[in-house]
Formats: sequence, structure tokens, C-alpha cells
Amino acid sequence: MSTVGWGIAGCGWVARDHALPGLLAVDGARVVALHDLDPAALDRMPVEGARRTTDLAGFLATPGLDAVYVAVPNAGHRPLVEAAAAAGTAVLCEKPLAADVDDAQALVDACARAGVLLGAAYDQRWHPAHVRLRELVPELGTVTAVRIVYCCWLPGDWTPDGRPHDNWRVDRARAGGGAAIDLAPHGLDLVGTLLGEDVTTLSALLQTRVHDYGVDDGALLTGATPSGVLVGLHVAFNTPDALPRRRLEVVGTRGMAVALDTMGQTAGGSLTLYRPDPVDVPFADTPPFEAQFAAFTDAVAGRGRAGTAWPYDPARDLALHRLLLTALSESAPSESAPSGGTP
Ligand SMILES: NC(=O)c1ccc[n+]([C@@H]2O[C@H](COP(=O)([O-])OP(=O)(O)OC[C@H]3O[C@@H](n4cnc5c(N)ncnc54)[C@H](O)[C@@H]3O)[C@@H](O)[C@H]2O)c1
Repeated sequence: MSTVGWGIAGCGWVARDHALPGLLAVDGARVVALHDLDPAALDRMPVEGARRTTDLAGFLATPGLDAVYVAVPNAGHRPLVEAAAAAGTAVLCEKPLAADVDDAQALVDACARAGVLLGAAYDQRWHPAHVRLRELVPELGTVTAVRIVYCCWLPGDWTPDGRPHDNWRVDRARAGGGAAIDLAPHGLDLVGTLLGEDVTTLSALLQTRVHDYGVDDGALLTGATPSGVLVGLHVAFNTPDALPRRRLEVVGTRGMAVALDTMGQTAGGSLTLYRPDPVDVPFADTPPFEAQFAAFTDAVAGRGRAGTAWPYDPARDLALHRLLLTALSESAPSESAPSGGTP
């Protein structure tokens, strides 16, 4: 297979503003089809030559379709992944895998049964600062802790682009929860990606402190890896975007690495290594979505950039999803009422 034909199912914010530009920059990838239930969303996708359809069956029957990127709200992942798997295409599914554990298990099973490649779209694995940080971890000595802050401001009427938006992120039925299920999966994935071992114990405290909606607007999660690295995650929809709100620290006995403003969809931010004097660490500027789509495209084509196929096992992504949702379901919500407030 020389060129991989991609379809995008769900043409909203992340697909239009981040995935599509990433995909269009990849050698050997071609966008052949777009699917969304909303014709206006299809119209807003800046790509030529692709079939645009609100009909899922017609989308999946597009000639030359090899891989489908699923970017609909979380509860919609399962039916789309199952349909794509049944049609025999590889699937790159947005995070979180699903809105609950049963759906996540079902979509992983569907791909395994169909024998198609399934990837979870944890784009931050591919952020160039995180790729560099992974190389630096051995220089930190014995890693004792990873501390992550990944917060933003997301009120009930939030919109990504100023246009009226269906804010499904605060609808438990479609999102599966609030800030924690939306933001924590990135941090949990990063811990495992950076350290080479995943968090296996996890607990959570949830709050609905500021916004008047029926899901958590903040959470603190604490966990540990099998070798004993402690992990702390603060995720929130109640931190004004103007404040410092994205920080990733890996702490070791010989040094510490601090990534600022790297967690997100673009290649920006900074990376500093303290041993103990601070040294700025340069990194590439490849957008994380571009790197992600390049790797998945190569895996689908069977060529494997740098000798690797898709290096992430869906069973591992499913285990992390189960761990997170179990911790969230066992957490006690804060008793206090939302206070309201504006940034
Ligand atoms: N990796 C990241 O950094 C990142 C960032 C943002 C969003 N996401 C994930 O991407 C997914 C989409 O998020 P978004 O912010 O782009 O949402 P969005 O609301 O902006 O877009 C979702 C689109 O899906 C369409 N849609 C809804 N149900 C559908 C269905 N059953 N079939 C076809 N189309 C359907 C909607 O019309 C809309 O155009 C979510 O799972 C979210 O968690 C990931």
C-alpha cells in the first residue's frame, strides 16, 4: 500500500483545527472521506477532493478508505469504531476511548475480532518536548514522582471558536463525566509513555466548585506505578486560561525535568532540565497531531517509520481507561455547591 486513504468521522473542533492540518502534512496520507451528522461541520473542513457525507454507510464504502479517525463526542466512539472495524478499516480513536468501560472494552474487542489496527489518539505522546523528555528520564536518577497540572476554563456555554457550540463535555451521558474524564487520560498516558511503566493504582477527589453543571469541574488524582513512582494530577475546567495551568514535572534523585505549556494540541511550550542548575532543552517543532498521523499512517501501510509499527497496545490503553473510570466512580464528590465566577 503506497498511499493510505483516511476518513474522518466527526468533523468538529479537534478534527478541523488540529487533526486535519496534521493529516494533510503527512507524506503518504490522503483524506478521501469526511463524515458528520451536521452538514455545516462537513462544509467547514478545508480539504479538497474528499467525499463529504452524513451517511455512515456511504462514508465507509468510499473507495480507497484504509483508516478512519474517530472524533465524535465520547459516547459516540463505540458505534463508529465498531462500524469502521466491520468495514475492515484501521481506526485511530480519540481519547478517552469511550464514555464508560463497557463501550471501551467493546470497541477494543471489535477491532481485535475484525483484525484491524486500533490506536488511541493520545496526541501528547507525540509532542516533541515529551519525545525529548522521554530520552532524558534515564539522566534523572531514580524517578520518585511525576506531577502534572492540566487545567483550563470551560463554562457551560463554552465554545472552541466563538461559534455557538453543543457543549457535550459537560453532559454526563455523552462525555461520561467532566474535567477528569476529559483531561486526565492525557496525563495518565504520558506517565506510562515517559517512564515505560503505567500507573496501576489510582484514586480521585472530584469537585464541582465553580460551574453550575452536573459533572466535575476539577479533580485531584493520586496514583503509583508498580516500581513506586508517585503520580499526582490536577485537572480542571475551573482554572482561567490566563493563569499558569499546564505543567509536567518528572522528579528524580539526580535531576528534575519541567515541561511548561507543552500539554495541549500544539508543539509549543518549554522544557527545562535541573541538575541542579536549569538548562533549557531544545526540541523539534513538529505538531503532535502530525507526528501521530505520520506514525499511524506508516503502521497502516506496513512500513513503520524508524523500524517501528504502531507501538501502543490497545489492551494497555483499555487498562488505563478502566483504572481511571474505576477511580472516578469510587471518588466522593465534594459537598460544596458551585460558587460561580468568571475569570
Ligand atoms: N486529543 C486531543 O487533544 C483532543 C482535543 C479535543 C477533543 N478531543 C476528543 O475528540 C472528540 C471530539 O471532540 P471535539 O472537541 O472535536 O468535539 P466537537 O463537538 O467540536 O465535534 C464533534 C463533531 O462530531 C459530530 N458528531 C456527533 N455525533 C456524531 C455521530 N454519531 N456521527 C457523526 N458525527 C457526529 C458533531 O456534529 C460535531 O461536528 C472527543 O472524543 C474529545 O474528547 C481530543
